[in-house]
Amino acid sequence: MSTSNIQAEQRSYSSQGTSLDNMVPANTIKIMTIVGARPNFMKAAPVIAAIRKHNEHLAMSPRLTADVNSQFTLQNVLVHTGQHYDEAMSDRFFADLNIPKPDVHLGVGSGSHAAQTAEIMKRFEEVLVREKPDLLVVVGDVNSTLGCTLVAAKISFDVNGTRPLIAHVEAGLRSFDRGMPEEINRILTDHLADLLFVTEESGLRNLREEGIPDEKVHFVGNTMIDSLLTFKDKADRSDILDRLRLRNRNSSQGSPNGTARYALLTLHRPSNVDQRETFLNILEGLEELSKSCPVIFPAHPRTQKKLAEFHLERFFKNEVEDSRPAQADGRIRMVEPLGYLDFLCLMANAAVVVTDSGGIQEETTCLGVPCVTVRENTERPITVKVGTNILAGTSKEGIRQATRKQLTSSASGSVPEAWDGKSAQRILDVILRETKKKRSL
Ligand code: UD1
Repeated sequence: MSTSNIQAEQRSYSSQGTSLDNMVPANTIKIMTIVGARPNFMKAAPVIAAIRKHNEHLAMSPRLTADVNSQFTLQNVLVHTGQHYDEAMSDRFFADLNIPKPDVHLGVGSGSHAAQTAEIMKRFEEVLVREKPDLLVVVGDVNSTLGCTLVAAKISFDVNGTRPLIAHVEAGLRSFDRGMPEEINRILTDHLADLLFVTEESGLRNLREEGIPDEKVHFVGNTMIDSLLTFKDKADRSDILDRLRLRNRNSSQGSPNGTARYALLTLHRPSNVDQRETFLNILEGLEELSKSCPVIFPAHPRTQKKLAEFHLERFFKNEVEDSRPAQADGRIRMVEPLGYLDFLCLMANAAVVVTDSGGIQEETTCLGVPCVTVRENTERPITVKVGTNILAGTSKEGIRQATRKQLTSSASGSVPEAWDGKSAQRILDVILRETKKKRSL
């Protein structure tokens, strides 16, 4: 756990139009957006972009704006907890997704769940007390999401107990598996939030069944899909297929542009990779797939550590020094974690994606790419119902059957309601309305 001084980590970026000045003019709404771990960046980026566009629009035509909500300037303070800190797990995503540099970096780093969450809370409280935002935006289900929500829910800026409104983007998802740390984070965050932004119909049902009042809940679609639709063309221009020798432009095999038939794999859930038996079982279940097509595996740091610790290297190859086109020889080709654009390009061109990630189930649904989820449950049932996702479980036979089926699948599924690239704008409309309402009370 890093012990770096928080003050030293904090920076102010005038290029972003924000300052860490507490004196907020009456016609300015101060928003604080939290990011911490890899899956947060693509969910928060569209909200940050929508705030920027709102201010640009206001600057260009201040008097022409009839809608009174639109007349407020928005100040966004971006806080990075530092839960993920590698270039590969964090910094690259800021560049790929055009996210401005964080105004505040808490430098929290890794630790047990308790240590990491506690450190986030301790460091974040100081920032929150100093900045006093009108509203806090948290996304997803990672420890940073819960840690910052807990702090904001109990903070008191003045004798009246004033605290920021808490907005949770991606509310209501439930795996009904409390063994998953993310499930605990989701439930607690939702029960503390004031504005709950839901991505799919199951979220509406879950929140209602848990007794959350309807007026707090807003069905807005999926900001991660906003990012996908914004950056898809740019991702198509990535050279990752050439770098991994998955494309031979002179070949008559594969797709018309010479792209090989390949599978893309990600695994990092503690329940899948932290026990040797389970991890081994999954790898044996994937052997058939890796004999029928190259399997590309950008490995999460947790997974890299575990496979070395469990001596499972025989299932993998590192082809850095190999100049041949990708081979289907029964071994999985491990590469370092990839940036957003390279990974999106690999997903879009894959014959099948095998994963235990949450977000990838949604991205493949939107792309119409067959997906096999190596888990017993999913908190994103819409991807199975209307999308391209199959829940394989974690048994060898389950994985074999699902990958076989998906490799020959031609179904492209359909895109869920409101996954249309406009979710962040819907969120901003609600934020403006509700923050103004709170101020006039
Ligand atoms: C976290 C999230 C999970 C999300 C995943 C995506 C929680 C509870 N979990 O899990 O929901 O799907 O991120 O990546 O918040 N590590 C590095 N470099 C980094 C970050 C982590 O080497 O930049 C190592 C850590 O040292 C640790 C391991 O990866 O050993 C796990 O990191 P951690 O932040 O605890 O959780 P994730 O497994 O990444």
